[in-house]
Amino acid sequence: MKPKYHISPISGFLNDPNGLAQFHGIYHVFYQWLPDVVPQGSKRWRHCVSDDLIHWTDEGSVLEPDEWYEKNGCYSGSGIVAGDKYYLFYTGNVRDAEGGRETYQCTAVSEDGKTFVKKGPVVYLPDTYTPHFRDPKVWRKEGRWWMLVGAQEKGKKGNVALFVSDDLQKWDWIGSMLNPVLDWGYMCECPDLLEVQGPEFLIVSRQKEDGCRGMSFAGKMDYHNGKFTVTDNVGKLLDEGFDFYAPQSFIDESGRCLLMGWLGSGEIDYQMSQPAVKEGWLHSLTIPREVFARDGTLCQRPAKELASLRQNGQSTVCDGNTMINRGTASMEILAEDLNGETLSLDFGTAVSICWDNRQHILSVRRAKWDAPGYDEKHLPLAGLEKLQIFLDQSTTEIFINDGEKVLTMKAYFSENVEIKVFSESKITVNTWVLEVS
Ligand code: FRU
Repeated sequence: MKPKYHISPISGFLNDPNGLAQFHGIYHVFYQWLPDVVPQGSKRWRHCVSDDLIHWTDEGSVLEPDEWYEKNGCYSGSGIVAGDKYYLFYTGNVRDAEGGRETYQCTAVSEDGKTFVKKGPVVYLPDTYTPHFRDPKVWRKEGRWWMLVGAQEKGKKGNVALFVSDDLQKWDWIGSMLNPVLDWGYMCECPDLLEVQGPEFLIVSRQKEDGCRGMSFAGKMDYHNGKFTVTDNVGKLLDEGFDFYAPQSFIDESGRCLLMGWLGSGEIDYQMSQPAVKEGWLHSLTIPREVFARDGTLCQRPAKELASLRQNGQSTVCDGNTMINRGTASMEILAEDLNGETLSLDFGTAVSICWDNRQHILSVRRAKWDAPGYDEKHLPLAGLEKLQIFLDQSTTEIFINDGEKVLTMKAYFSENVEIKVFSESKITVNTWVLEVS
């Protein structure tokens, strides 16, 4: 069930991507990790490296919760390159004797990208927040260092705290960055700020009573006043699927803005019900995605490096009912120039995608693994021109209309996925087996 080209734990439990950066040409990805398959516990940072975003080497666990300021977990955070050093910023999670929470924003530094030396806390909890204060994201702008921390105001409302520094050690708290009148749920986890060809976007994993979702908000950062003003109050779901949370972006050495998310999420029972648990591991990261702006919204497309995995390309002209079987559950499916006609694609019995041209709704159905029946999503779209789908044993990522929307989910496939295409008119479906050599 383990994906072949997605970062997944050898064993144990994975959640958020952390510390993403490119340092001396090498891509570094860390993830929240527990050695056992249980969703809660003292999280560590597990480290992977790659020189091409495709072949990942596991470097083991690098931040272990062994100091007083992180004794109950090295929680999420970010990475930046400054001079010839690689800095990690993360949350030290501490539980006191009564079960109360303490939080410390900490740093660790590396000169070689292998050994990270902990420097301890650099940011303490300002008075206006509860200890739900975590996930520092650091970046450079206007000649200074800036840090966002996901926060909960004492009134139990989500916001994002902003800090500034000139040396990465002494940090000044500027204040809460977001207009409190807007709906930031009860906590904003994993904040991020990105600038792609002009527009700026705030990303937060917003926790609300009715669900926790990764959102993007277009807007403008005023570094002088320390406020981010949204131009879109509602925001956009970064992903429409069932299993996507806690995304993080970084700018690579070529200037691309890349993003990865946790290909997982949800209530503990839902997570633990997954078939992968029996194999001693759980969850993956998404494929690396390139982020760009179109029509003022944040869009994502697969990083171009993914194309190097393509083996054995096949083009199938489909009209009416057609079956395609590539003898694998790790593949890419690309259908372009769709002329808007009604269309459906079934991937074995696990996933089906159906475009209804009359209603202008794309419906995605995924078989439940622990009960009969399906989970469904229905996305209204102006039209359907392109579908690019990545299957990988137990994961599915669907890129719609060149990144206009993305839908990510777990789906447990059998070994050979039979693709059943139904199309009201003639379309071409390209398929590749994806293999990491
Ligand atoms: C998001 C999150 C973060 C936290 C981490 C702990 O999934 O809750 O806010 O740092 O997971 O693993």
